[in-house]
Formats: sequence, C-alpha cells, structure tokens
Amino acid sequence: MITFILNNKTISTSEHSGMTLLDFVRYEKRLTGTKIGCREGDCGACTLLVGTRTNNTIEYQSITSCISPLGNAHGKHIVTVEGTNLQDKLTTAQEAMKANYATQCGFCTPGFVVSLTGFALSNSEKNYKNAIDAVSGNICRCTGYKSIEKATQQIVDKLKTQENNSFDWLIKNDFIPAYFETIPKRLKDMEAKDLNQPKGKYISGGTDLYVQQADHLADNEVHLIAEKDYLKGITIVNGVCTIGTNATVSDLWNHPEINSFFPNLKKHLKLVSSEQIRNMASLGGNLVNASPIGDMTIFFLALNSDITILNSEEKERTIALKNFYQGYKTFDLKEGELLKNIRFKLPSKHSFFNFEKVCKRTHLDIASVNTAIHLSIENKTISEAHISIGGVAAIPKYLHETSAFLIGKPLTTEAIIEANNILQKEISPISDVRGTNDYKRLLARQLFFAHFTTLFPKQFTLKDFLQHA
Ligand code: FES
Ligand code: FES
Repeated sequence: MITFILNNKTISTSEHSGMTLLDFVRYEKRLTGTKIGCREGDCGACTLLVGTRTNNTIEYQSITSCISPLGNAHGKHIVTVEGTNLQDKLTTAQEAMKANYATQCGFCTPGFVVSLTGFALSNSEKNYKNAIDAVSGNICRCTGYKSIEKATQQIVDKLKTQENNSFDWLIKNDFIPAYFETIPKRLKDMEAKDLNQPKGKYISGGTDLYVQQADHLADNEVHLIAEKDYLKGITIVNGVCTIGTNATVSDLWNHPEINSFFPNLKKHLKLVSSEQIRNMASLGGNLVNASPIGDMTIFFLALNSDITILNSEEKERTIALKNFYQGYKTFDLKEGELLKNIRFKLPSKHSFFNFEKVCKRTHLDIASVNTAIHLSIENKTISEAHISIGGVAAIPKYLHETSAFLIGKPLTTEAIIEANNILQKEISPISDVRGTNDYKRLLARQLFFAHFTTLFPKQFTLKDFLQHA
C-alpha cells in the first residue's frame, strides 16, 4: 500500500505506483484545483508540494505532478492548492495574486499559488530573484507577467519581515494553514515501509520517462528507486566528488561546496530546467536517458567523469562516462544493471569550467546544441582539456581529438581556431526540428569560441576569432 499525507489527511491506496500523482489527486481524490495543461512538466499548472522528513523537520519542494509517479509520494506530505487554503480568508499568496490582478482565466493560478507557497516554506533566502526562480516553471497564457511579478514582490516583502523560518511564523502570517504544524510528527509516526517492488522499469524522478511513456508506466510494473539511500548523496573526499545517481539537479544547486568549485553553477543549471523539474530530475536518469543533448550528461562528460555500475548480485564495475555511449540511445548497461554513482575530480586552482547552450527559447527548452569545457592552464600552456558537445552526433559526444589537440598548446587565438577545425571533423550533425546541419555546425563553432570569450574575456573576443577563422 502507498501511504502518505494528502493535505491534512493520511491516506493509503492500493492504486498502481506508476500512475501519475496528478491523475490520483484529480480523478481519485477529486482535488481539481490541480490543473492539467501540457502533461510534460512544462507549464506548471499541475504543481504540487512534496514535504520530505529530514531529521526532525520537513523540507518542501515543488514538483510537476503530471510526470511524477504516485509511488514516489509514499511516506511524504503532498500538498495541493486546496491544502494551502485557510478556513475563512485568502492566504498571503492568494491575496497577493488577487490584489495585483495577477489572474484572468485562472487556469495557471493554482500552480503559481502552490509554487509561491513552496517558496515561503523553503530554505531559500527570501529575495525577489529567488522568488522569481520559484515560479520559473509556471506559465501564464493570458494575464501578462507584470502583475504576477508584482504579486511575487508583495509576497517577498512580507517574507522579509520574518524573524525565523518557522511554521509558526508562516501560520501566523497566513501563508499556510495551522495543520502544517502537525505534519512532522504525523510523518514520523507513519513510518512508511519500503514499497518493495523490485520489478519493472527503474524509475527515479520520472521526468523523462513520464513525458515519453506515461500511459505505459501507469499500466505496467515499475521499480521505484528514488528513495534508495545507497543511490543518494553527494560526498567530497580528497578532491574527488561522488554523486549518487538519485541525487537531483536541485541537490547540486543547493550544495554549498559544489557551488564554491563551480561559481557559475546556478547560472548553468537555470538553463537546464525549471525549479519543479530540478527538484525531481535525477542525475543518473539524465545519463541513462542517453539523449544526445542531455544537459547534465554534457556537463559530466567535460568533467571527465567515471560512473560506477551495480549489477543484481551487487557487484560493481567502473567505466569512464566518455566510453559509456555506443550509438543512438544505446549504452554499456546490461540487463539488471543500475548506475550507482558519478565520480569526478573537482576543479583545481588551475582549472576553468564553462557550459553553453542554445535553444529556441532561452530557458527550460531542449538544446539545439550544448557544450561544456574543462581546461587546466599551467605556465600559459593548456595542461588538461576535456570538451563535450550535444546535438551534433548520435550520442552526447566527448571530443576526444579536439581535447587531445589542445593539450600542450599555448592559449592563443590560433590554437583555438585550429581546435575548431578538428572539432568540425569530429561532429556529424543532422538536420531536424532543432535546426539544419549547417546551423548546428555554426552553433558548435560559436559556442566553442564562447567558452574562451567567457572564461578569458580580457584575452579573447568573438571578433578576433571570426577575423581569423
Ligand atoms: Fe503542464 Fe504538468 S500539466 S507541467
Ligand atoms: Fe489565464 Fe494565467 S490567468 S493562463
């Protein structure tokens, strides 16, 4: 049985674990405030909050319920827009939306209210920028964003007066109803046992699988692994970072040490997906998706990562990620094997890392071309180079020859232009909905140059490259 707290009610259900959480709350529980828009995780109309018990507190995160399996709710607190309601007045988030005329047809409004309530409950610093990030996955078709931004500002202004981030303060200030205070103890007492369904397709966050095959997963066995502790966590030992494949993009985003090694991490991850998706999407899932344009795959390829693979007898093997992919959507993973972790050496003081992505819209879109670079420079010479690129081959591509060419070269315009000539021979883009072959070659060149103009702005300009190319 799947057991969880839905708003203020503890429920147990024998519904199929692979059913979407959205269908469960709307069609089984008739909580129709949660809307269905795209069913692909793109519009935020179906946003819910998931509260997870950690030590003695609860951490709330927003998710898109249309691409989340019901079984992942087991042992959690799930909050729909109805679960944020107060008895006889609007909540602070609802009131701000109303006062700023931030709703017209109202279809998107519950999603915005849930995301903004999630922001109030989160540990994020309470500023306008973070609040806007919290609604980055919510789309409105008819109101216009200015009034939603004003409502967001009103909520931030109120949150800034908060003395501490307690339920107590949020309840007194009408952000959440009083029953939230009972949740930590009720979740503790619930002691949800492992669902123990070691059959069917492995699913962690489900953000990719549910876009492609939600109906199939709703009707067939699924093996949910998001709560497996041995696949979780981020550890750093002796300059080596090990990331459990269940770790989410948000786990990276929130990791202070990782952010200190990658100062532009948040800027890069914002290009990857909305906050709701970052909260669900597992890094291992991105690797085994094997999309030729998987953003996080491109990221880890340029870090020259190794991956550990676990078989059903619990034996492990380690291979380089750059040798994992064999052809379009095929990779070196046998029946019963599972990715356990990703490991890479953290950048040293001689290292430079950058990620670039071009898509049809700036944020939350699939890349036309994406690329990452990791360089070490010692005595003005490139001592280590790893470059990856997506969208220009059947697999997410590690550029073996271009990377090898750069090692031992001085960091000059000539060397970079020559490296681009090698890069162009290593890639084989095809024309598709994301652009023609020629366009992708052009993007590959421009983004390759962009790595250097971004990392060494005093030394290189795009004009220089184009004059000599
Ligand atoms: Fe659009 Fe779920 S329905 S994100
Ligand atoms: Fe109509 Fe946002 S108010 S979609």
